[in-house]
Amino acid sequence: MHHFTIFCFTIIAFANIITGTHAADIENGKIVFKRCAACHNADKPDNRIGPTLQGIIGRKAGSLEGYRYSPAMINAGRNGLVWNRETLITYLHNPQGMVKGTRMASIRLNDDSDIDDLIAYLESVLPRQNEK
Ligand code: HEC
Repeated sequence: MHHFTIFCFTIIAFANIITGTHAADIENGKIVFKRCAACHNADKPDNRIGPTLQGIIGRKAGSLEGYRYSPAMINAGRNGLVWNRETLITYLHNPQGMVKGTRMASIRLNDDSDIDDLIAYLESVLPRQNEK
């Protein structure tokens, strides 16, 4: 009986580890991206109302050639802002709060797991090296 109890606790602990870890969900990321799609491409290099988000991870803010950024976004990049998970979370929670004067207004994502899923989606549509 004693061993059986320990066995049960072990199983529950494993179940918690498995369900507690958030695995990024590309399908949900695609749905989240719909909130960006009016202004941004995800899988094409072309800019729209906003700069393309293709290759956004690791890119310096305000750095795409051929896109007319606000002075605020250009300055943010000059001051060292690079897009990664942490900076995107801060930005998407409140764009104006992080880059005061950005032309991207009023979009707010508050759920960090949605942002993880969005990043996973954006990474999933990147061309593979040998396709470029
Ligand atoms: C209504 C149009 C619009 C929507 C919707 C929108 N954006 Fe933007 N976004 C812009 C514009 C315009 C800029 C350029 C801002 C500037 O120059 O200040 C921008 C800039 C950005 C940048 C900085 C890019 C760079 O090259 O430095 C990121 C990152 C970004 N948007 C992410 C998102 C995400 C993620 C979503 C969806 C959750 C989203 N945006 C929704 C218009 C939009």
